Parts: sequence; C-alpha cells; structure tokens
Amino acid sequence: MQQDATPLLPRHIGIIMDGNGRWAKRRSLPRSAGHRQGARTFRTISRYCRDIGIEYLTVYAFSTENWKRPQEEIDAIMNLLRDYLNELERHSDEDEGVLRFIGDTAPLAEDLRLRIDEVQARTAGRPGITVNIALNYGGRAEIVRAVQRAAELAVSGEISPDAVDEALVNSLLYTAGQPPVDLIIRPSGEQRLSNFMLWQGAYAELVFMDVLWPDFAPADLDRALEEYQRRSRRFGGIGS
Ligand code: FPP
Repeated sequence: MQQDATPLLPRHIGIIMDGNGRWAKRRSLPRSAGHRQGARTFRTISRYCRDIGIEYLTVYAFSTENWKRPQEEIDAIMNLLRDYLNELERHSDEDEGVLRFIGDTAPLAEDLRLRIDEVQARTAGRPGITVNIALNYGGRAEIVRAVQRAAELAVSGEISPDAVDEALVNSLLYTAGQPPVDLIIRPSGEQRLSNFMLWQGAYAELVFMDVLWPDFAPADLDRALEEYQRRSRRFGGIGS
C-alpha cells in the first residue's frame, strides 16, 4: 500500500484472526501449530500496519467463549502470548508503538497479568501505532461492564442518569480515547462478528476473506484496504 493513499486509510482496523485450526488440520498438525503460525502472522501484520501508518489495530486473540476449548489448546494460546510478551521485554523498541490488552484479564495466570501490566506501562505514551490485543474479550461483556460503571456513577450521585450518553459509554469501554473501528477484517471464510467490537464497530466496513489467518500476508491486507477504499461510507446519511 503506497503512503500517498494515507488519507484513504482507516485509522482503526480490527482483525478476527480466524482459521488457525483449519490451517493445522490441512497439514495434519495439532491445532496449536496453527495458533503458532497465527501468532507469527500477527507479528508480520502488526508491523506492516505500523509501517503504512495505521494508528490503531485491534486483534481478537481469545474470546470470552474460547474457554470452552480443550485446556491444552487454551494453554497453547496463552503460552504464545507469554512468548510474545517475553520477546517484547527483551527487544524493547520505541518504534513498536503502544501495546494494550482489552478484555477481562482477571482470570488469567498471575505471571501473564503481571507481564501485561508491565508492557502496558512501558509502552504507554509512545508515538505511532497502538495495538490492542483482545484477550478474554467479548463485545457484550464490555458493554455490560460500561453500563455497570455508569450505573455506579449514577447511584453514587457523581452523575445524573441523564448524563449517560454515547460519549459516557465510550469513555467506559476498554478502548476509551480511541477512535471507532473503521474496518473489520475476518479471514477464513466465516462471515460473522462473533462478539467482536460490537460498539466500536457500529459503522465499520466488514471485509470477509477466504484466506486462513496463518496464511494471511501483507498483500491480503492491501486487498482489504483496496476494498475499504472502494466502499462509500455514509454513516446513516445519503453520501455525496
Ligand atoms: C481462531 O481460529 C483463533 C483463535 C481462537 C486464537 C487466535 C490466537 C492467536 C493467533 C495467537 C495469539 C498470539 C499473539 C501473540 C497475539 P480457530 O482456532 O477458531 O480456527 P478454526 O476455525 O479453523 O478452527
């Protein structure tokens, strides 16, 4: 993607990293091998997004529903995240931008939670891309959490119930202060949101692609961006 296309670039891209299991199955490999390759793809694509000037990238790494998977698979995904965090600690580079985790980290292993807190504190305020990793994340749970907090503020008298508006809910989401998601990409052929960024993606352009996430390359992101640029975004209006 050429830099001169920047005005047409989405500010915030969301990616549902789907198809790892099928990628592994086609190769007669364990599902964990698909996730391992998926984690490599994540590194490549997040760097590519940074290099072409994307401001925010949110990837869906583990949903609130993924706890239903076999423990072995859950452990494999958590270990990939651990490896990534260790790697970032060893090669801390300002250019890598800000790393944030969105979702409920409370049920995660303590060492992982500490690493997450550490990397978020270390990378906060950096220039360049912000990468959100959605971990134990669900869009509905995120909205419920924001509504609960708004209710607490109202009950304690800090705000009146009338003050609960879109801006307040926005400020109580994990993504407070970030722009809405402009483009959601789901590889692997599935065509649904699966509880991803339900609030932030209200007006997102959806691009579904047949490639499996472990095979997803920068050229596939370019294709999604070209599709995005062809779409006419009207936000409920009638367009120009
Ligand atoms: C969905 O594919 C993928 C996941 C539930 C896990 C995604 C996690 C990673 C790519 C690793 C995260 C690590 C880092 C460093 C961000 P699936 O398993 O549902 O695929 P299938 O539909 O083909 O079975």
